[in-house]
Amino acid sequence: MCGIFGYVGKKNASQVILEGLKRLEYRGYDSWGIAVAAEEILVNKKVGAIGDLNRLSGLPEARVGIGHTRWATHGGITQNNAHPHFSSDEGFILAQNGIVENYQSLKEMLEKKGYNFTTQTDTEVIVRLIESKLKLLKNLKESIRTAFLELKGRNTIIVLTKDSQIIAVRNGSPLVVGISPDSQEYFFSSDTLSFAPFARKIVVIDNGQMIFYQSGRLDLYDVSKNSKLPYRFENISIKNSKVDKEGYDHFMIKEIHDTPYVINQLISQRIDDYSKFAKDLKQANNVYTIGSGTAGIAAAQIAFYLRVFAKISATNLIGADAHEYYDLITKDDLIIAPSQSGETADVLEVLEILRNKGVKIASYVNMLGSTMTRLSDYSFLTQAGPEICVMSTKVFTSQISWGYLVSKIASGKGEEALEDLTILAQTIEKFLNTESNHQNIKEIAKKLSRKKDIFLLGKYQNFNIVKEGMVKIIEGSYIHAHGIPSGDLKHYAITLMDKGVPVIVAVSNDQAKFDVMNAVSQVRTRGAEVVGISAAENDNFDFFIKVPDTGETSAIMNIIPLQLLAYYMAVELGHNVDKPRNIAKSVTVK
Ligand code: BG6
Repeated sequence: MCGIFGYVGKKNASQVILEGLKRLEYRGYDSWGIAVAAEEILVNKKVGAIGDLNRLSGLPEARVGIGHTRWATHGGITQNNAHPHFSSDEGFILAQNGIVENYQSLKEMLEKKGYNFTTQTDTEVIVRLIESKLKLLKNLKESIRTAFLELKGRNTIIVLTKDSQIIAVRNGSPLVVGISPDSQEYFFSSDTLSFAPFARKIVVIDNGQMIFYQSGRLDLYDVSKNSKLPYRFENISIKNSKVDKEGYDHFMIKEIHDTPYVINQLISQRIDDYSKFAKDLKQANNVYTIGSGTAGIAAAQIAFYLRVFAKISATNLIGADAHEYYDLITKDDLIIAPSQSGETADVLEVLEILRNKGVKIASYVNMLGSTMTRLSDYSFLTQAGPEICVMSTKVFTSQISWGYLVSKIASGKGEEALEDLTILAQTIEKFLNTESNHQNIKEIAKKLSRKKDIFLLGKYQNFNIVKEGMVKIIEGSYIHAHGIPSGDLKHYAITLMDKGVPVIVAVSNDQAKFDVMNAVSQVRTRGAEVVGISAAENDNFDFFIKVPDTGETSAIMNIIPLQLLAYYMAVELGHNVDKPRNIAKSVTVK
């Protein structure tokens, strides 16, 4: 997944684009590039992240330009492979977000026509394909449109022409256009957040649509029919679109500290907004939840809460592995997708197929105007504010809190859940504001940072929580971690228990407590070093992180120390906390 950005307006285009790309770096930061139209097209491309915003774009003042921040899929991380890519005559330049699945066959066809390639990217294939059309059609917009129709896969492209036109086409990877009417500025981007402080209105470009800007006009086309489409700008008001660390060392720790605010955002939503949804939930034949990565674990916890508190037969699916369910899910079923970006390709593919079958879709998304939101029959917004750290924390906590609330509403106990969540938010706030908790967790993190393998034990409401702890530790410290259902320990994982092996356990005062503590004593007798996350101390804990007992929301409380552990481990190891290696915030390609 990459980030694309375009600008037209009175400001210095390259600087506006640089700032926009900076806000899109969560989508990839292997390299970046900016191009502006100033008589001719001038471009500047660099390997690596943009880094300090004070850096200059290295380009002259101009009013129109495009930019790209890359997460390499085809072709190494080199300046030559960085986007945007020039046409041979430098009449236009193009950036892409996505993967051209048929780029090999297109490349062979173009090579036979005499085109040479100077990069290993699939992007360059799009450029040469457009050129080959332009030779015949003599019209760049038409050449872009017809070339785009030959691309297979989920792609969004943005093109800057020498005549200061911007043409962008979408199929899959997100594309939003922002406008600031009073300052006559236009923004083209992969997400709304990247221009939120400047734009007042947006229009979301749908799959199969092309947006064309020239000399103050913006026209929308249906790509396959080549017909003009009406469109309307929606007002946006992203309350807190501020993207800065607010004095914290990293976005991750700031976003963990945002958790009480985020839960209060959830609580402020009106219960009766959920009544129809709750009714459909209960009437559905089957309920499914689906997500990828951390959101996939949130989906599992939402399904858990639906089963336990609403007695709804809910099954969770992992985004990339739901295909075997396509024939089983019918229009009498309902599927729920928690998602930070609302653009995860694996999940979107499933939702688009199920939508065509008439399956009811509900989404819980943090990004305004996302594809998942627009695909949904019920689109709930997390309103957690920007989550910049690639490792999801506050949004995950919001997703599972939402699952708890929805499940309780469906069982007629919505008010009780609001009270529980209010207490939970206060309890988390107190926990986070108690310095000794951070000191204690920091000490434990230091020890864990030196380990090669880390195991986590959990059961019932805490199993998904320790799985998410596993994900956070892997993402932040690059150490192998393994979340084990405590009931399975004696069936395989116990062989791994040995002197000094670290085992983190999250336990609540629930029906699983006895079994979990049984498993703890079994690993301890084999020499394991146990980190206990619990309301009560225990002789079998070598290290103890005390958490208040928050009753039915105990599992949500337990994720906070796990997120802090992962954070302090990443800091201890000197890793790039907010941008861990190889992963990106939103995977909009398959
Ligand atoms: C991964 C992110 O790339 O995508 C995870 O690193 C995230 O944090 C997952 O949970 C799914 O993304 P989204 O936007 O659907 O929550």
